[in-house]
Amino acid sequence: MERFGRGEDGGPFRIRGAREVRGATRAFFSMRERVSRLIDQRSQLLAGVSHDLRTPLTRLKLQLALLPPSSEIEDAKRDLADMEETLEEYLAFAQGLGEEAPALIDVAAIASEVVADSARGGGDVTVEQSGDVSAPTRGRAIKRCLANLIDNAVAHGDKVRVTVKGEETAVFVSVDDNGPGIPEELYEDAFRPFSRLDATRSRNQKGVGLGLAIARDVARSHGGDIILSQSPLGGLRATLRLPRPA
Ligand SMILES: Nc1ncnc2c1ncn2[C@@H]1O[C@H](COP(=O)(O)OP(=O)(O)OP(=O)(O)O)[C@@H](O)[C@H]1O
Ligand SMILES: [Mg+2]
Repeated sequence: MERFGRGEDGGPFRIRGAREVRGATRAFFSMRERVSRLIDQRSQLLAGVSHDLRTPLTRLKLQLALLPPSSEIEDAKRDLADMEETLEEYLAFAQGLGEEAPALIDVAAIASEVVADSARGGGDVTVEQSGDVSAPTRGRAIKRCLANLIDNAVAHGDKVRVTVKGEETAVFVSVDDNGPGIPEELYEDAFRPFSRLDATRSRNQKGVGLGLAIARDVARSHGGDIILSQSPLGGLRATLRLPRPA
């Protein structure tokens, strides 16, 4: 049951015990099947819709490119680019729910890859590590999770510090920034899909509002979580916790 909660397929299970226990167990496994089916359908639906919208979108872009330039055309091009970005997010979200086998992975190496990508954009982003930072994880999913946290930090602050710390029972990755942060009472809102807190307050004008939802989905599917708090740098601290089996 614990493994199912983490999103792993436990495989077939032998039902035994007293009649009540067997009844409850049977009910649980039929629920497990229903939940798995729903997740599959959700992923397929999202991927399908995103995929089918891409072709007409590309056609529209080509048609716009052939029209004589004007400010209206430029606006329309920007709208199309936004739509395209949104679609990419949906697809990434749907794919995040797909399967990738967990392996023992150096979490700091993944964090460094993401930081290198961000630093190429010219930002002040550094990573530090301590302890044994390997954990059984789905590497691609963890990369997407960290990329979302680091993108947010870079969008809201101009100084970003990533710390990867290995402890006995878990690996922790903290992403600190010196931006405006988020008021504590809005932490849970920030995780809601498509939620964007007070757009005028933030410098990050683009974005779909899926980043933190995706990050948390990934963390929880590994039995961990994302925790928000106030950063010593003055902005937000987002911490990914990845449990390590004893
Ligand atoms: N480091 C941060 N500092 C301040 N506010 C933040 C930070 N990270 C997230 N937020 C707030 O939380 C909201 C939700 O973040 P989330 O990453 O889910 O979406 P997004 O960044 O708006 O869009 P997306 O990540 O899908 O491109 C953001 O719109 C922003 O208001
Ligand atoms: Mg984001």
